[in-house]
Amino acid sequence: MFTKWFGRNTPRHSAGAESDDHLIDLRNIVKTYQSAAGSFTALKGVSLAVDRGEFVAVIGKSGSGKSTLINMVTGIDRPTTGEVIVAGTPVHTLSEGKMSVWRGRHLGIIFQFFQLLPTLTVVENVMLPMDFCKMYTPSERRKRAMMLLEQVEMTENADKLPSAISGGQQQRVAIARALANDPPILIADEPTGNLDSKTAGAVFALFDGLVKQGKTIVMVTHDNDLARRASRSVIVSDGEIVNQYLAKALPKLSLDQLISVTRQLDKLTYQPGEPIIRQGAPADAFYIVTKGSVEVVLDQPGGGELIAEVLGEGAYFGELGLLDGGTRRATVRAAHTNGIVEVAALDHAEFHALLADSEGTRVDVARMAEQRIGVAAL
Ligand SMILES: Nc1ncnc2c1ncn2[C@@H]1O[C@H](COP(=O)(O)OP(=O)(O)O)[C@@H](O)[C@H]1O
Ligand SMILES: [Mg+2]
Repeated sequence: MFTKWFGRNTPRHSAGAESDDHLIDLRNIVKTYQSAAGSFTALKGVSLAVDRGEFVAVIGKSGSGKSTLINMVTGIDRPTTGEVIVAGTPVHTLSEGKMSVWRGRHLGIIFQFFQLLPTLTVVENVMLPMDFCKMYTPSERRKRAMMLLEQVEMTENADKLPSAISGGQQQRVAIARALANDPPILIADEPTGNLDSKTAGAVFALFDGLVKQGKTIVMVTHDNDLARRASRSVIVSDGEIVNQYLAKALPKLSLDQLISVTRQLDKLTYQPGEPIIRQGAPADAFYIVTKGSVEVVLDQPGGGELIAEVLGEGAYFGELGLLDGGTRRATVRAAHTNGIVEVAALDHAEFHALLADSEGTRVDVARMAEQRIGVAAL
């Protein structure tokens, strides 16, 4: 049941069908570049799953590995080791030729510098992916391109060359082009990086609308304000992904602490109703809910039970017994309502080392513990 968060060849747990269902599934990706200066590992064994309808923002410092990560999804680059499964296709195994046709049909890609062909008009640029993948009949292609340009409010510029329109307008055209073959997934690398903030906001709003229409979007951005408006952020740091629930649970941790704790977390899964810790048992670990929710249950003197609290994703539990070095004051179990529950566990030594290392976290966790003791005493 224990699997390291970034362990190699993470075994899929028993509900195989469920865990294989991700639209994008990067598994233990290592990417090492070889150059004259030696080898450089840009991705150090990252796993990332994205489900249908998600809008994921990928953030992190320049050089942290964001582009390398999404280039794995698009097949622009290949992993040194690891697997890339997109819409059921093992992208890392495709030949170059197969890859470009597959990519043209399944992915829309948007770049920072638009990359429209300068000698083609706006509408011809949008038709290009349909021509390349032989999608739609030749007569339908122009009509469809005009329909897409209407969606991004660019019809009046259809016959202009890219050089005759602004950067924001070029990016709208690039989005229309990305939608040409109606791909389920859009991958964008700093799409607003070259736009002023107002234009960036408008482009972001377009993405937002596309998610509402059912597209799945992964967008690299430098802009933390925009990232917050996505449904989820993934932080990349030095070729690793920071556990998102850890950052939510313990917001006072520094980026470096988040990264090192991420490596220590054990991932555990539970069936609905299954206990995770039991009242009265010795305390040995700290837990963060990473999928679904858990019920905190207090045994009542008369023999009944009281559900004191329901904790959702990003909440933690198990700190009370660790802080007073004793036994569990409550039973915590996977909620009955919503499928398999996942938690990330940190063992007691790692938990205490973390508190010693982060004053802010120590204060926050102690405050939470006090509140919970108050609830238990009621
Ligand atoms: N083709 C390459 N050869 C060697 N090193 C590379 C190559 N591409 C990227 N890198 C290195 O990998 C690291 C991550 O790059 P990148 O993914 O582009 O970062 P980001 O997009 O977060 O700015 C950087 O240190 C970069 O220099
Ligand atoms: Mg980049």
